[in-house]
Amino acid sequence: MLIFDQVCRVYPDGTQAVKDVSIKLEKGEFCVLLGPSGAGKSTLMNMVNGLVEPTSGEISLDGDRLTKKNLQLIQRNVSMIHQQLHLIPRLSVLHNVLTGVLPTTGFITSLFKSFPKDQQRRACELLSEVGLEEKHLMRRASELSGGQQQRVAIARAFMASPKVVLADEPVASLDPAMSRSVLNSLKTAAQTHGASVLCTLHQMDYALEFADRIVALRQGEVFFDGAPSEMTEEVQTSLYEIERQNLSESAQPSQKTCDNQTMPNSFGLGAVA
Ligand SMILES: Nc1ncnc2c1ncn2[C@@H]1O[C@H](COP(=O)(O)OP(=O)(O)OP(=O)(O)O)[C@@H](O)[C@H]1O
Ligand SMILES: [Mg+2]
Repeated sequence: MLIFDQVCRVYPDGTQAVKDVSIKLEKGEFCVLLGPSGAGKSTLMNMVNGLVEPTSGEISLDGDRLTKKNLQLIQRNVSMIHQQLHLIPRLSVLHNVLTGVLPTTGFITSLFKSFPKDQQRRACELLSEVGLEEKHLMRRASELSGGQQQRVAIARAFMASPKVVLADEPVASLDPAMSRSVLNSLKTAAQTHGASVLCTLHQMDYALEFADRIVALRQGEVFFDGAPSEMTEEVQTSLYEIERQNLSESAQPSQKTCDNQTMPNSFGLGAVA
């Protein structure tokens, strides 16, 4: 079980990105993190994979605390699917998936492509599970479409049998049909392999359709935590209310910021005659 216990994160410039977040994620649970831009979703996620350290509170996995000092524990148990995927374009699909065992195998093994047969079999099985046809196995990753590459990234994430898989906006650049198909693959993989998946999304309808559970953040705090069926239209509207207000305020032209006299010299713009 992945537990966030009163987790806070204040960045050095004073931004309080995450405030007092306490949530528990079960094995095999597909949890979608929602919330307006800047709500703290990526920060929360990056505290699980050790990229960001909580200022206070703690995150633990099956009783072991996840901290930067405990990086090996994180590498063995937590996989990340980045929006930019980070596949190695020149390597084959199969080899890219096999690199998912790197935290548990060695760099040298990867370098010489000498992955044991059982690992190669597992990589093929995972690729088939996420719906990538066998004919693509030996193609270079760079030759695949965005949706196909996303499937390779999902297969790679599950390669080392992680307990937690993090996915930060995994369908941001895909069309609706491909997005649904990819989210379905991710959810099925979570169930099949008993991993907790924490996935940030900006699309409410996908969250309602695929999540086992939705955690919505607003200004760093948990605003909603429950099943999709419990997320009423009222909750959905008020989740984005503050952001809407801020956007409409910032859309109003402000005399002060447009006034050349008040422009800081460091912009090098100088006053226009
Ligand atoms: N390294 C940093 N230093 C200072 N502030 C940061 C840093 N990283 C993020 N922030 C701030 O923390 C807040 C939360 O950012 P975060 O990236 O976690 O939001 P998010 O919910 O993932 O947003 P989005 O949906 O746009 O990806 C924002 O105000 C952001 O500007
Ligand atoms: Mg983010």
